[in-house]
Amino acid sequence: MAFAELARRFSRTGKFSHRFLQQREASSSSTAPSHATSFGFREVSEEQKGKLVGDVFHSVASKYDLMNDLMSLGLHRLWKDRLVSKLRPFPGMQHLDVAGGTGDVAFNVLEAINRVEQRSLEVLPRDADEEDETRVYVCDINPSMLEVGKQRAKKRGLEGLPSLRWVEGNAEQLEFKDESMDGYTIAFGIRNVTHIDKALKEAYRVLKKGGRFLCLELSHVSMPGFKQIYDLYSFAVIPAIGQYVAKDRESYQYLVESARKFPPQERFAAMIAEAGFQDVQYENLVGGVVAIHSAFKL
Ligand SMILES: C[S@@+](CC[C@H](N)C(=O)[O-])C[C@H]1O[C@@H](n2cnc3c(N)ncnc32)[C@H](O)[C@@H]1O
Repeated sequence: MAFAELARRFSRTGKFSHRFLQQREASSSSTAPSHATSFGFREVSEEQKGKLVGDVFHSVASKYDLMNDLMSLGLHRLWKDRLVSKLRPFPGMQHLDVAGGTGDVAFNVLEAINRVEQRSLEVLPRDADEEDETRVYVCDINPSMLEVGKQRAKKRGLEGLPSLRWVEGNAEQLEFKDESMDGYTIAFGIRNVTHIDKALKEAYRVLKKGGRFLCLELSHVSMPGFKQIYDLYSFAVIPAIGQYVAKDRESYQYLVESARKFPPQERFAAMIAEAGFQDVQYENLVGGVVAIHSAFKL
């Protein structure tokens, strides 16, 4: 059965799949006006995109973590664990998690550092007044997402910890010094950024030589059969869950569409290399539903 027919059958109103297909055709055939960018399948000005993305995350912030669990069937936790295990956090690390939202990745990084620290303390006890220089920064452009993150940190007993810092800022223009970070992560964030190339250059700038770049992002499934099922799930089920749980179908429609507009794995790897990074690699998870791109500043 053709994808269009499948989508029509599973979509509650039938309108969505029709619109999706129309937009998909339009997006592949239209010539974008200058300084236009994509907001999902829509062409908008760069200024509009920033505002629209801000509206999306302001709207979903309070239900963001619940929706993540529902939409990914809890898998986002495993994907983030994988991201952090690749990072190999260490005590004293200066780490920047960009588009860090409600703090998941930063919490994982801190927990990983604590585990290493506990193990090393058993071998080599430290003076009680020895300062812990570890810093994990959560940087996000959206104050509503950061606020939810701070509340979550409080519930986990991490409030006021000198090693955890919350910073409102734009991935394209980071307020961190050159070569100040050992690690840089961005999870499900870079596809929302207007100029991906600028964000990558900023990642390169703030990393120390030898620093690690890691990006977890929704990516592209190519396996026949699975792709159709995944498309159907994305375009029919996810916006419906958004409507039911977060009372916001449009934002989840955008999240799905923005994933389809994001460059495929190889193209994104080339963009990372163009920003100056070396040893660029990627790993597909769940057949490419998400991919982890990794690189070093050497
Ligand atoms: C899908 S959420 C991901 C949150 C978190 N990293 C996670 O994995 O749960 C995307 C985040 O990107 C942030 N964001 C979007 N554009 C940004 C930008 N230009 N600079 C920094 N953060 C941005 C949003 O505010 C939002 O918190």
